Amino acid sequence: MSTSRFGTTLRRDAWWAELLPVIALLGLFAIYATARAFEGRYYEWGPYLSPFYSPLIDPEHHWWPFSPALLILAGPLGFRATCYYYRKAYYRAFFLDPPACAVDEGRRGYRGETAFPLVLQNLHRFFLYLALLFLVFLWYDAVRSFRFDGQFRVGVGSLVLTANVALLTLYTFSCHSLRHLVGGQVDCFSCSASARARHRAWRWTTVLNERHGLFAWLSLISVGLADLYVREVARGAIRDLRLL
Ligand code: FES
Repeated sequence: MSTSRFGTTLRRDAWWAELLPVIALLGLFAIYATARAFEGRYYEWGPYLSPFYSPLIDPEHHWWPFSPALLILAGPLGFRATCYYYRKAYYRAFFLDPPACAVDEGRRGYRGETAFPLVLQNLHRFFLYLALLFLVFLWYDAVRSFRFDGQFRVGVGSLVLTANVALLTLYTFSCHSLRHLVGGQVDCFSCSASARARHRAWRWTTVLNERHGLFAWLSLISVGLADLYVREVARGAIRDLRLL
């Protein structure tokens, strides 16, 4: 852009319209997740555990007097907040920086993410390692949700928790950092058996990576709904249907 006046653009389409669902969804999720993290109850029923509280640490409050969710919140929150896809989404929707492609943000200098606090976004790779660990707990919870009084049973909650962790897995395995971890820094993909294996894995992560934005939204919605389901069953507002 040759000018530096906020909002100047040659675009004739309703570029601002794409910001609205992002503001609505991310805003709603942030409010709901914050309220639930602080609530500190209705997170468990039978074999079901809310994903917001997994892994469950000190539920009896022996040394942690507040909601157990607050002990683990930094992991998933840091992973999402530093995600490359979400960065683009919330920089535009909440900071209008820039508001959209080819729309002037009205700023002269540009330092990218090289200065504090945005330089902290580079921690994304480390949050990825944490997210992979969280997936282990969430898969354990999903498998456990099929055990009622020592017997294999299927409740609606079992399916909800399993669908949720499947979507979270797709989101995590489509991560840009993971794709780089799998296939980056290799000069020759055909020069050794391990390089060929990495190439195969890289191609798989690339297929997922192309849909990373989709998995980001689907998993955001599913994790909120899975928590809501467990909450409503735990407080007796709805009954869990047993399918098998
Ligand atoms: S880039 Fe989105 S989770 Fe890593």
